[in-house]
Amino acid sequence: MPSIIDRLDQLRADTPGTAQVAHFNHAGSSLPPTPVLQTVIDHLNLEATIGGYEAAALANEHIEASYASIARMLNATVDEIAHIENATRAWDMGAYSIPFQPGDRVLITPWEYSSNLIGILHMQKRFGLEIEVIPNDQFGQIDLDGLEEALRKPTSAVFITHMPTNGGLVQPAAEIGALIRRHQPDAWYVLDACQTAGQMPLNVQEIGCDILSVTSRKYLRGPRGAGFLYMRKGRIAETNPPLLDLHAAELTSSTDYMIRPDARRFENWESYVAGRLGLGAAVDYAMAVGLEAIWARVQEQGERLRNKLLTIDGVRIHDTGVVRGGIVTYSLAGVPSEQLRAELSARKINTSLSNIYRTYLHSDLEAIGTYIRASVHYITSDDEIDQLVAATAEVAR
Ligand SMILES: Cc1ncc(COP(=O)(O)O)c(C=O)c1O
Repeated sequence: MPSIIDRLDQLRADTPGTAQVAHFNHAGSSLPPTPVLQTVIDHLNLEATIGGYEAAALANEHIEASYASIARMLNATVDEIAHIENATRAWDMGAYSIPFQPGDRVLITPWEYSSNLIGILHMQKRFGLEIEVIPNDQFGQIDLDGLEEALRKPTSAVFITHMPTNGGLVQPAAEIGALIRRHQPDAWYVLDACQTAGQMPLNVQEIGCDILSVTSRKYLRGPRGAGFLYMRKGRIAETNPPLLDLHAAELTSSTDYMIRPDARRFENWESYVAGRLGLGAAVDYAMAVGLEAIWARVQEQGERLRNKLLTIDGVRIHDTGVVRGGIVTYSLAGVPSEQLRAELSARKINTSLSNIYRTYLHSDLEAIGTYIRASVHYITSDDEIDQLVAATAEVAR
């Protein structure tokens, strides 16, 4: 397969938004490629033309194909996948279904996404969980020795955010999985892959996670309002979903029901069908571009942007980690990040802001305050990077 650089013009031409803006907000919501957009529009048109249920029946084969595509991308099986409307709900449906007992001990990191942290604290209040935070090592990723030590005590679950919402860090997911399996084979390994799906290859067999949650709109470049949950087959029967409807379970009498045996026990009956189809198209698109190639290119563009920004006086890069991906975070001394972002936006450069509130346990971020998150993707051109760097340098003067 030719490298992305050889296909860049075509890939960018496939993304109408690249002609409008310099988009550095793929970690927020990416620009969808035409085949994804068209899939969503076509289905909405079909619904408007023949009726929503009738359109869903016609699209059934494609809906099923979307599960198969997601499973293929993860090296999972179709019965391990549930379509869920976003990453937070996917994580919730997975995590809240773990059969916790009072006093169960769970491990988390300072990088846990705040919605997940709220869920963990909520479960702590409900079930009396004991929470232990595994600190970072000197590179800002999880301290694997500290994790190993913590895993010597009984542990019910380990919660990891693969790439935090506010930094390029990639946590060593497979090493974490190996340590969990070595010391606590029955512990649940819950991986938030919201920012890594579509940015890098994800192989749930290599990672060894039991639960993985993803959103559609970020690095996968799918539509908003879509996402999915992976739940390891061998563990589905242990789960007790926090919510059930007549799709997730079946009434067996007027007083009892049976929960579905597959991961669709975590789904709703009513759903955004066009979104599910669009997500399937986005996964197919990412796999056609090639996730290995995407990952190589994203890392390259991320480093290019960091290195160029560092040539500007007063710029500080806040990304940590041994392996860093497409999320680039920085601030400019003496210029409030809100102002810098507005200046960039006035030049049609999209970025977003971040701060400690997104990863509340990460106290080091408090001193930094609010900073710019400029996230690159494989379609980010060198020219766009130059535009962002030049605009930042202009504001710095
Ligand atoms: C690491 C991480 N996890 C979870 C989420 C939540 O995703 P969603 O908004 O689809 O629920 C985000 C969103 O920014 C995120 O960055």
